[in-house]
Amino acid sequence: MNTNYVAFEGVDGSGKTSYIEELSNHLEKNSINFKVVREPGGSKLGEGIRNLLLSHEYEVEPLTEALLFSANRSNLVEEIIKPSIENGIKILSDRSAYSSVAYQGVGRNLGFDKIYEINDIAIGGFWPEKVVLLDIDPEISLKRQKINDRIGSSDLDFFKRVREGYLELADKFKEKFLIVDANNELSSNSKIIYKWLELD
Ligand code: TYD
Repeated sequence: MNTNYVAFEGVDGSGKTSYIEELSNHLEKNSINFKVVREPGGSKLGEGIRNLLLSHEYEVEPLTEALLFSANRSNLVEEIIKPSIENGIKILSDRSAYSSVAYQGVGRNLGFDKIYEINDIAIGGFWPEKVVLLDIDPEISLKRQKINDRIGSSDLDFFKRVREGYLELADKFKEKFLIVDANNELSSNSKIIYKWLELD
């Protein structure tokens, strides 16, 4: 595999988790040492912050939300991601700082560049090396999977902006991003992903 740190991104219901499971099985078969992490969450502190972010119990202003996500990943990068990579363990990440650029920067209208900068500081420039973007119209993905948490239950227009945010990221960082049409079959898309990651 040609990367130590790959993230899967996409709007809610795009199927990230199934793709990560599929890739995990493939890496196991090839005896590649890896770890799966998720955001929000991924560490003890992170799972606590995840609960604050997704619970309906709290009212969270957009900037507070962005800062909580970035605090979560600041901890996750230092505590888990960097040490794992230093020990030869590859990271498969279910979301990353790019989610914040799309969801908080564009979805919540806080600004693409501003949220990119906040996260760049939080993670000390330690962005994923490769990103698989599962692209799908949120109207379809939200029908596939009903999400009840505070952010996942946002309105359709919010998710349409999030999708645009992702496409803007993929356009800006062309060498890092692989856009996959999430309407297609998982097995045929997985072949495209393996080829891109230089896996047999
Ligand atoms: P996740 O657990 O990946 O949910 P799903 O499997 O439904 O995609 O993420 C939880 C929610 O948090 C999801 O609605 C996306 C949102 N989110 C942000 O708004 N910003 C972020 O930086 C991250 C990581 C997630």
